[in-house]
Amino acid sequence: MKKSKKKDRVRKAPMSLSDIETTKDIKIPKDLLDQVIGQPTAVRRVRLAIDQHRHLLLVGPPGIGKSMLAQALAQHLRKPTEQVNIVNNPANMQKPFIEVVKHHSEVKTVSPQEVPAYVSEQLGFKCSICGSYGKYNEQYCTKCGENKFKRVSPRDEIRASCYAADGTEHDMTYKRKGGRIQIIGQEPELAVKGADKKKAKRTLIPLNRKNFIHATGASEVEMLGDVRHDPYGMHPEIGTPAYLRVIPGSIHEAHEGVLFIDELPHLGELQNYILTAMQEKKFPITGRNPQSGGASIKVDDVPCDFLFVGACNIKDVQEILPPLRSRVLGNGYEILLETAMEDSEDNRSYMAQFVAQEIVKDGKIPHALREAVDEIIGESKKRARIIDDQRNSLTLRLRDLGGVIRLAGDLASDEGAEFIEARHIKQAIDEAKPIEYQLQERYGSVWKGIEKDHIINPEYGKVGSSYL
Ligand SMILES: Nc1ncnc2c1ncn2[C@@H]1O[C@H](COP(=O)(O)OP(=O)(O)OP(=O)(O)O)[C@@H](O)[C@H]1O
Ligand SMILES: [Mg+2]
Repeated sequence: MKKSKKKDRVRKAPMSLSDIETTKDIKIPKDLLDQVIGQPTAVRRVRLAIDQHRHLLLVGPPGIGKSMLAQALAQHLRKPTEQVNIVNNPANMQKPFIEVVKHHSEVKTVSPQEVPAYVSEQLGFKCSICGSYGKYNEQYCTKCGENKFKRVSPRDEIRASCYAADGTEHDMTYKRKGGRIQIIGQEPELAVKGADKKKAKRTLIPLNRKNFIHATGASEVEMLGDVRHDPYGMHPEIGTPAYLRVIPGSIHEAHEGVLFIDELPHLGELQNYILTAMQEKKFPITGRNPQSGGASIKVDDVPCDFLFVGACNIKDVQEILPPLRSRVLGNGYEILLETAMEDSEDNRSYMAQFVAQEIVKDGKIPHALREAVDEIIGESKKRARIIDDQRNSLTLRLRDLGGVIRLAGDLASDEGAEFIEARHIKQAIDEAKPIEYQLQERYGSVWKGIEKDHIINPEYGKVGSSYL
């Protein structure tokens, strides 16, 4: 995995509120991690997870940035370098092979002695007469004195095929770079011996793929893969061979990336498979329907080396399988996210950055005046107090606050206003009050409101809303 650069770690101080007239003046960081507001511990842990290849469990109420942190983690990972192919196995069609082709996105620079001889000759380093090496721009070999370029005309760059130990052929580009040679291409690596270019194969996991797989609520088949049924599967002429019927699961698609599962406990027993996959970094694909012909097909060693990020609400933590939590704790971090942050000068500026981010992300609403940002800050202070009982704080339940910004933006655009003004925010707050807020207004507190669900009706002496 790519190491995040040191400079990434220093978070720039946000622009002071007094320096802006509208949210247009706020520079939004490109790094998604720097866009996460009010969760410094979680952000630090995510950076560690990137560097050290660790798993994460993010716990906290809805809309405070759990999915955002997981996506930010994926943004920092190196692009996948492995393509996974599935190869027909003529000796046993029910057990196709896996072939892993490793692509080097980084360019390798080597000495002229390290490339195939004919490449070195074409690039002018090797004498085609006596075989000794010299400078590419010397026409006559310093060893035998012959004209090196009698048989070859020297070039700056050539494309050539290279044969790997297993016989597979790979295209490479060799480029002269000073006195050395740059190699741009791919290097094959076989997970299973026996696979070769003559055998039929197809790409199971392409090289160019997303490295963030959101597998929330996935079924067993979606999570672990499957083999499609074919009534003529075993027939050599009319059947579809097994290797063409294999479907990867989310755990395989997340290879070299992030497997993100929200509402983790809802996966139930599937959590067991995930922990096995995390441990082995390989997981077989087999037909998951016992009635189907696919059930007799099994592909071993399908790679699934992912970073696991699980998320859940606080009350659901107890439902996560203990062995899975132990895998995360043994090689990663469990993080309880914050629900509010101190109402300080800096944090107000971060809140302004949040407003700017939401506006830019939406793309359809106008920017906000500073007075509108102040209004949002006032609202976030109220919400911290009402919802989380936190004084002198700003709420971090930001999805809901984002809803207020969008509604205010819609009101402003509807009027043709150039900017979101304080009055738009006020109106939006009024129209989009969360239930807790409405309970506070109507009953004086959230808890008093909750009690209204179960009232003992003195007349009937019974409990329940139907007797109200
Ligand atoms: N800490 C934060 N910093 C900046 N934006 C945030 C933050 N938290 C939430 N948001 C905004 O709210 C949106 C929803 O947040 P996100 O999906 O990450 O919440 P979540 O914690 O995963 O919620 P859920 O439990 O419902 O899945 C984000 O896309 C972002 O616009
Ligand atoms: Mg989420």
